Amino acid sequence: MRLTVIGTGYLGAVHAACMADIGHDVLGVDVDIDKITALAEGRPPFYEPGLDDVLTRALACGRLRFTTSLREAAAHGEVHFICVGTPQQPGSRAADLRHVDAVVDGLAPHLPAPCLVVGKSTVPVGTAARLAARLAGLAPAGARPEVAWNPEFLREGFAVQDTLHPDRIVVGATGPAAHDTLRRVYAPMVAAGVPYLGTDPNTAELVKVAANSFLATKISFINAMAEVCDAAGADVATLADALGHDTRIGRRFLNAGVGFGGGCLPKDIRAFTARAQELGAGAAVAFLDQVDEINKRQRTRTVALARRLAGGELTGRRVTVLGATFKPDSDDVRDSPALAVASALHREGADVRVHDPEGTANAQLAHPELRYSTDLLTACQGAELVLHLTEWSQYRELDPVKLARVVREPLLIDGRNALDHDEWRAAGWTVKALGRPA
Ligand code: UGA
Repeated sequence: MRLTVIGTGYLGAVHAACMADIGHDVLGVDVDIDKITALAEGRPPFYEPGLDDVLTRALACGRLRFTTSLREAAAHGEVHFICVGTPQQPGSRAADLRHVDAVVDGLAPHLPAPCLVVGKSTVPVGTAARLAARLAGLAPAGARPEVAWNPEFLREGFAVQDTLHPDRIVVGATGPAAHDTLRRVYAPMVAAGVPYLGTDPNTAELVKVAANSFLATKISFINAMAEVCDAAGADVATLADALGHDTRIGRRFLNAGVGFGGGCLPKDIRAFTARAQELGAGAAVAFLDQVDEINKRQRTRTVALARRLAGGELTGRRVTVLGATFKPDSDDVRDSPALAVASALHREGADVRVHDPEGTANAQLAHPELRYSTDLLTACQGAELVLHLTEWSQYRELDPVKLARVVREPLLIDGRNALDHDEWRAAGWTVKALGRPA
């Protein structure tokens, strides 16, 4: 099938490459000419494991091309996927839909024939209906574009795997034709047994924000338990394991630590509460404000722990932060807990040095006030405190004996509860973590 994928960020670039990989003829579209040039040369403009291979394969077989022209996109696609960003509006909790609207406005006048426009971006419930009316008003007579919503559940770091082997496919549409079309788009997945859940657009839009809200709630729940564990002298890691054995609860997303970040969970729960308020259902999701507060508190609690370990004063103390991205296997630093903590330590006068395997360039742009080191041992040289804030596998593989030789003080905060504390203690380190007994 002839597909266009509009917006080539983390979502769109992966979707475009994977759709070409399963046999479709795909045109990727973006306003950013640098991104389009890089992608057309087989270079992903961001770090995502496995994407370069799929991209190279798709380009080589001629099923994937890129353009900046929405006119070209309109002529190419039977199905147009909208994959542009929906960030938080500055000064508000609501989502900023200007990119989604711009795609519709740019595409509509050029649509030559009936087609399907499918939103994948995370949007406030009601967006598909609003865009359908907008599109109908702008498209030429006879084009009869239909709008469906097909939320994406991919995780950064696992984006290719999640796109090719999703847990489920959710599609919201107003009629059976759109479902037939999308079942054909996703035919290999459907044939492999991936559940296809067909519903209306409002429900599909809500599934996505509900899923991210649930995940955020799970993380904040365990972080709230970590706070109680600290007060009671109990161990949140054991608590999480014990809870996780209950198959109704499950162990995943119960890792206590510095909390969630990234371009999705934080802004999605805020946009959801803003939209629910508009709908008069604000009270139903008011708990998400608490989820957000608990999450932010883990950052201040981590800084407070560092201050306490430094004897109440961070000024002039040499501190190393391991990790800058919001999660491992990504170079994404949006709303990164690690960088928020590093920056707060810096503001308190600490001499902070940050290391990250892939995120240094983005971190430098977001936080130029911090110092960065691309070599792990150099980053830790002379440190009086090391904070492990993003759980890259490289950090789990560190030899604590070797590291103890380069630091001034073998003092570690494991902000992700992901290192082997017994091993580090055996190597002479004092190890602290939120929610864990000393
Ligand atoms: C999230 C969802 O997991 C995806 O399903 C969704 O498609 C995506 O948002 C999106 O809306 O596009 P992502 O932001 O890539 O994916 O990252 P997650 O793996 O969900 O992690 C989010 C944050 O939670 C990270 O900062 C991570 O370190 C933190 N986290 C995760 C914890 O603090 N504890 C946990 O137990 C799990």
